[in-house]
Amino acid sequence: MTIISNGHLWKYSNFLENRKYRFDKNKILNSLSKKDIDEAYSSISSWKNYSQTPLIELNKLSKELNLNKIFYKDENKRFDLKSFKALGGAYAVEKISQGNKDIVIATATAGNHGRSVAWGAKRLGLKCKIFISEFVSDARGKAMTDLGADVVKVKGNYEKSLIECIEQSTKNNWQIVQDVAWKDYTLIPKYTMAGYTVMMKEIVDQLKDNHISHIILQAGVGGMAGAMVAGIARYLKNIPETIVVEPDSAACVMESIRTGKIEKIDIKRESLMGGMSCGEVSLVPWEILKNSIKYCISLPDDDIANTMKLLGNASFSDEKIIAGENSAPGVISLITSCEDEKIKEKIGLNKDSNVMLIGCEGDTDQRMYQKLINQ
Ligand SMILES: Cc1ncc(COP(=O)(O)O)c(C=O)c1O
Repeated sequence: MTIISNGHLWKYSNFLENRKYRFDKNKILNSLSKKDIDEAYSSISSWKNYSQTPLIELNKLSKELNLNKIFYKDENKRFDLKSFKALGGAYAVEKISQGNKDIVIATATAGNHGRSVAWGAKRLGLKCKIFISEFVSDARGKAMTDLGADVVKVKGNYEKSLIECIEQSTKNNWQIVQDVAWKDYTLIPKYTMAGYTVMMKEIVDQLKDNHISHIILQAGVGGMAGAMVAGIARYLKNIPETIVVEPDSAACVMESIRTGKIEKIDIKRESLMGGMSCGEVSLVPWEILKNSIKYCISLPDDDIANTMKLLGNASFSDEKIIAGENSAPGVISLITSCEDEKIKEKIGLNKDSNVMLIGCEGDTDQRMYQKLINQ
């Protein structure tokens, strides 16, 4: 009897191969340039308390799945913020402020991005206004107040909080630092993604002589996935198979890749994978992802809590890993792909494969984390 297959079937919902796949390094680096990527690493790596987050081998899982190696980038250890998001918003704040101490930063957020922006503003001694929807938990709101931000709760959903943020910022001349791009608003989301590419630079340094054959990237609006693809174009010699994973209730990258244009998903049910529950891929990442993601996979919420528990009790690795709801889908999509012979063969997972997974967050909401792992 093994850890992953004691009568349990690991589920995926949909799988798609991108018919327009063509990984073109130059084209990718036109969307997010080498200069942007290098500047972000040079700035962020000089911040106080900066250190690489660990790259952990899921040695027990790779043995069980009969793969060569599985690497897990553990963003639970990213500064004090426990998520890769710490790299993006805070860096965009630094770029936009350019040493000016008088500006006021504003953003709308579901949680982790706002925390990064608030932390980035605090680092630089700037005032910060954060707009959250009524559905953002008090714990997440408090985390931003604790960082000195003025948190404004808005009736309605995330879109409503963004509209309020834009209205008030226009009126008061505040600088909006958003991670989502829209027409005429692409520079700051680009800086945010440039910040995320630091993860790939660290991975390349940590891999030493190992190469990666596959990378699985979680997507909400696609910023993280787009940034990592740009990081591959910038830093890697080989091109691994690129796989995006999303909640089945909000598979906006998959649907857009299916039709070849940005598709909006009407989210009927919010996924447990909260940070990934997004209905529309953002403009800047879309330009990168549309041709450079080879496969998309979508998942139900069913295995999230169990996977968090297995990571937490060292079933997959020698050490215990604190992984949040948005970290689990990388592991689940790998297991389910290995259990489905057709997919396994199609994407070429075998005893020589070295798979990279992104553990994009830890217990950013501790109450939720405890609830899920104790289910
Ligand atoms: C906490 C969190 N938020 C958001 C996302 C999604 O990122 P993006 O919206 O840039 O695709 C992830 C991971 O994919 C995540 O872990």
